[in-house]
Amino acid sequence: MQALAEARANIALVKYWGKLDAALNLPAVPSLSLTVDALTTRTSVRFDPSRTLDALFIDQKPADPRALGRVSRHLDRVVGSAAANARMFAEVRSTNDFPTAGGLASSASAFAALTLAAVAAAGRESDPTKLSVLARQASGSAARSILGGLVLLGVGTPGQVDSSFATQVASEGEWPDLRLVIGIASEAPKEIASTDGMNQSESSPYYAPWTSSAPADIARAMDAIARRDLPALGAVAERSALRMHACALAADPGVVYLRGPTVEGLHAIRKLRARGVPAWFTCDAGPHPKALTSPEDAAQVARALAEVPGIQRTIIAAPGKGALLLDGQ
Ligand code: DP6
Repeated sequence: MQALAEARANIALVKYWGKLDAALNLPAVPSLSLTVDALTTRTSVRFDPSRTLDALFIDQKPADPRALGRVSRHLDRVVGSAAANARMFAEVRSTNDFPTAGGLASSASAFAALTLAAVAAAGRESDPTKLSVLARQASGSAARSILGGLVLLGVGTPGQVDSSFATQVASEGEWPDLRLVIGIASEAPKEIASTDGMNQSESSPYYAPWTSSAPADIARAMDAIARRDLPALGAVAERSALRMHACALAADPGVVYLRGPTVEGLHAIRKLRARGVPAWFTCDAGPHPKALTSPEDAAQVARALAEVPGIQRTIIAAPGKGALLLDGQ
């Protein structure tokens, strides 16, 4: 009836951007990410026969109706619809070890933790593949946070809900010498949700080339991981991020996530690389520049990002674990 789970954020090195089947939330492109040891969400789910509605608390505060609706729909998906009396209503409590108002709020860690806690609280058997299929339906990137280390999310087949799931390419222990440095460029929530940005990007003349070029990036990234080749993985990550943003920028109307400090951050990372520091950038549907680097160089990369005007602080993250059940039946 009750369970507690935690999951960490992940940062895509080959980006998911676009949907093959919006109703089932099947991605249009395969993606590959690193689950990180920073930015953890802990979520408890308690099904309670005396409740007449679901309740959601985020960082001890009642959540807004939109967030509650999204969580209720996910509980329906995971354990059956409450409206049809197929499940009890639940109290869901979620806490983050990072400020949620900080523009870092991660639907990936949140929905991965919620999926695992809800499945366990409902007493259902599961495995990482099934958990990732469930988490993906709430948010594509959440499927990848079910697993630790370097994780691949496949595209799947339209109309087949369980056709796209996450698989681990290398566990957090298999390539521990990776770091992601995150430069926090703004503490404001993001202006265009990634789901909306993706939908809008379908109007981009670059959308078709974006989707058709993604499998080659995955192949290069897989090859780089097999060889533990940081420069090769970094090069793929930069290209994938730039192409994702190029696709979004060219939409009608254009989707602009990049801010001044974001762009300056990308230049700062390239400048470091010109000086021989192994660092490659990536950037998601928000303003924060991120760098893939080595443990030895992470502090220097963080200092360079912190010097960029508008970057407020930095986080150095290492490869992290997948979702974990902390307590529950
Ligand atoms: C830019 O997983 O948030 O971070 O499936 O619509 O919830 P939905 O999208 P979401 O998109 C993540 C987009 C990205 C790239 C990535 O994580 O691969």
